[in-house]
Amino acid sequence: MKFINLLPLAALSSALVIPDEETMAELDIVDHHQQETILTPIHKDVKHMVDEAETYVSTAISTAGSIFDQAVDFYSNTEQKAKKTCHKKAYDTKAWLESKTEYAEEKIKEVESAAEKAKGGHHCKPNMTVYELIAKSKYTTKLAALINEYDDLVQLLNATAANYTVFAPIDSAFEKIPDHAPKPSKEELKKVLLYHASQEFYPAGRVLVTHTVPTLLVGELLGGEAQRLSTNVGIKGLTVNFYSRIIAIDIFGTNGVIHGIDSLLVPPPKATDIIQFLPGEFSTLELGLAKTGLFKYLNDTSNHVGGTLFAPSNFAFQLLGPKIEGFLFSKYGLKYLAALLKYHVVANQTLYSDAYYASKDTDAEVSGIPKGYFHIDLPTMLKDKSLSINVARYGRLISIKINAFATVTIEDGIAADGVIHVVSNVLIPPKEVGGLTTHWAGEELEVEDLKERLMPYMENAEL
Ligand SMILES: *[C@@H]1O[C@H](CO)[C@@H](O)[C@H](O)[C@H]1NC(C)=O
Ligand SMILES: *[C@@H]1O[C@H](CO)[C@@H](O)[C@H](O)[C@H]1NC(C)=O
Ligand SMILES: *[C@@H]1O[C@H](CO)[C@@H](O)[C@H](O)[C@H]1NC(C)=O
Ligand SMILES: *[C@@H]1O[C@H](CO)[C@@H](O)[C@H](O)[C@H]1NC(C)=O
Ligand SMILES: *[C@@H]1O[C@H](CO)[C@@H](O)[C@H](O)[C@H]1NC(C)=O
Repeated sequence: MKFINLLPLAALSSALVIPDEETMAELDIVDHHQQETILTPIHKDVKHMVDEAETYVSTAISTAGSIFDQAVDFYSNTEQKAKKTCHKKAYDTKAWLESKTEYAEEKIKEVESAAEKAKGGHHCKPNMTVYELIAKSKYTTKLAALINEYDDLVQLLNATAANYTVFAPIDSAFEKIPDHAPKPSKEELKKVLLYHASQEFYPAGRVLVTHTVPTLLVGELLGGEAQRLSTNVGIKGLTVNFYSRIIAIDIFGTNGVIHGIDSLLVPPPKATDIIQFLPGEFSTLELGLAKTGLFKYLNDTSNHVGGTLFAPSNFAFQLLGPKIEGFLFSKYGLKYLAALLKYHVVANQTLYSDAYYASKDTDAEVSGIPKGYFHIDLPTMLKDKSLSINVARYGRLISIKINAFATVTIEDGIAADGVIHVVSNVLIPPKEVGGLTTHWAGEELEVEDLKERLMPYMENAEL
């Protein structure tokens, strides 16, 4: 696979790893003497960084000239400090984990107030466009050189009737690309550049309460909708697509805002590539998809326009118990397995945790998912049998439940052809008895129960 495809996969592999039970248990340990969880020191580090960021925002705003340079200078100092403390204390916890903790809300408030102050600092109005800021900064010479190869991009980012957001990789981000990596074509490179900018205005305060951001890159496999990137809060601080750290925030231009990042953002691979690349997490799912022909079907992007895959982890399959797992993966279980897996695939509709790309042939009007509570039924490939999805979102805090029981443990695995949400349990179709729909709520299942639930869909379980 080309380097350009591998980079996001490598990043995903570190972000999408669910710890085993033992690690989970360790993370739950509370030191009752101090009333602190293991995560507390990490929170403190991040808090410290955000505190400093706040100080920075209020001072930088009043300084003219090479605003970008100062922002990066400032952050490289704090970053060094934060790195030391994080390394000492942090467990090998992954970005996804802390994004769920209560501290996020507090953090959001702090950055919001910093952003608020920044807005108030009107005594120094920006006088350069985002393009000019990038072109003039000593930290973004490589990015500027790349942008300059495309006249239309220069014009775009220099246009004043806009409010862009640019995630600008600083020069050292380019050093991470191995020397032997094949040089991408001019066309590929342009896609990479477009993936760093959004038509919409996302100052830091908004980034913090956002899960996915639409970019200028057209998602060819998403029916022309914007390809999105994800933003995350974790021990690495604020990151984009889990791996690229935001190292400078809120550098305002006349036509938008820039955030400096430490790694290049590479457009995401296909969902099937992601599944394949993470055997530690998805080898059972991959095997099931392969055995039933579904892998090939999903891998062929001409079969769908976007889509949502609810991906049970290996652990989720184990929870079904050895009898059911054995049955599903036996010769006799194959058609049941096919039906079951189809129940995890929503074709042509892409549901991110905070955005929704409806299928062209539904008349759904929704595109953004409102804050608070949101419900939607999504038809799966299993004879249009729907999944009942409830999203509760308060800023960065989010909870996604499926059929009132299964939980999304990791949301927004961004793929070129849709999105992957990792689910805590295999999703089992409900039972229909006397017109009543009863969802499975995790009670122990016998092979016969499972067969009975899947029986109504058997006759055309083949693709
Ligand atoms: C922007 O303003 C600063 C300070 O007022 C000045 O030094 C700089 O030359 C100006 N830049 C442009 C492009 O006008
Ligand atoms: C960018 O726009 C400014 C006006 O906002 C203009 O002075 C400058 O020449 C433009 N630069 C390029 C490279 O088009
Ligand atoms: C940019 O955003 C500001 C503040 O939200 C708004 O007042 C302004 O009209 C926007 N400009 C454009 C060109 O959309
Ligand atoms: C998946 O699709 C790619 C092309 O995008 C192809 O090279 C690969 O062989 C396919 N894999 C399977 C298992 O169908
Ligand atoms: C999804 O869209 C493709 C292409 O438009 C179409 O062939 C397919 O039947 C659709 N699938 C579903 C489940 O609607």
